[in-house]
Amino acid sequence: MLTNAMPARLSLHTPLCDLLGIRYPICQAGMGFVARADLAAAVCEAGGLGVIAAVYHTPDQLRKAIRQVRDATDKPFGVDILFAAVRSTGKEAEQFSDDVGGWVEVTLEERAPVLIAGLGNPGPVTAEAHRRGMKVMALCGNVKQAKDHAANGVDVVIAQGHEAGGHTGRVAGLVLIPAVVDAVSPTLVAAAGGIADGRGLVAALALGAAGVWMGTRFIATPEAYSHQNYKDRIVQIDEEGTVVTRAATGKPCRLIRNAFTKSWEGREHEIQPFPAQIYAVGREATIRARELGDVEHGSAACGQSAGLIHVIKPARQVVEEIMAEAEAVLARLTG
Ligand SMILES: Cc1cc2nc3c(=O)[nH]c(=O)nc-3n(C[C@H](O)[C@H](O)[C@H](O)COP(=O)(O)O)c2cc1C
Repeated sequence: MLTNAMPARLSLHTPLCDLLGIRYPICQAGMGFVARADLAAAVCEAGGLGVIAAVYHTPDQLRKAIRQVRDATDKPFGVDILFAAVRSTGKEAEQFSDDVGGWVEVTLEERAPVLIAGLGNPGPVTAEAHRRGMKVMALCGNVKQAKDHAANGVDVVIAQGHEAGGHTGRVAGLVLIPAVVDAVSPTLVAAAGGIADGRGLVAALALGAAGVWMGTRFIATPEAYSHQNYKDRIVQIDEEGTVVTRAATGKPCRLIRNAFTKSWEGREHEIQPFPAQIYAVGREATIRARELGDVEHGSAACGQSAGLIHVIKPARQVVEEIMAEAEAVLARLTG
């Protein structure tokens, strides 16, 4: 029998737990539309890092969500902001930059314990967050981005493999995670993409990560803000049920393969650059799938780890079962 004093448990308490002030090395990913106050608070209470995704909130709504999490838990939590580099011009690009500015302002003003940069470099926001006593994490899909984040002084680099749901790079996690660990050491690395159970957590630690950043697994929970049909579809599909397409946002994004993704095959030239495609297509398609439940004709971001997810269960149970399984795996490996 495993007890708290045994090595398996000790090795699962990592420097990420100390840095972020969390019990378990599990972070719930920022997920547009899906990751709101209820999910974030539930994960915090379960011992992980719960995260609100700023996108699809107005700045005022984001402030309310932050306060809602604070009312529900005294544990640390994060706010994830898409700092995507906008290379296009026009009113959509301006609108996106305004949105990012609003989310950053609120997150800094509210001194959320952790600010996470999805999709881009937070630049001077990192230093400003540190001045306010906050921690900063940032996602990357290759070693160059990881080095840029480390040079910018972020506390944790999240190495997100190609398996991941949502915006994703080209490099598989099995290669990316140790490559990023080597490149940014001693900066801590969290592993993302394809992790949905205790085996994935142990594998991530074996690759040198100090914890995991999990998205898709947490969609299939009652606390995730999404239509039941979307959660059910994640349980139904297998590891081949997703596809990477630019159709939703203008950038490569992994979605459930459906009539929406198929309708864009062969007409990729019609896809507008990020973020114009979001305003033209992605926003409506996201609401269609995630709020109205038309998963076949909407944009339903999801990772390959859907092939490992067979049951919808509360976020607390997800966290506890991952920890129990990880300990059992470690005990087996260490005899
Ligand atoms: C529905 C969905 C929405 C996402 N939206 C965001 C987002 O707003 N910001 C962000 O940094 N990452 C976003 N991602 C990526 C996640 O942060 C995370 O890296 C990814 O889910 C990890 O892979 P996994 O889904 O295999 O666990 C999203 C992922 C999904 C599945």
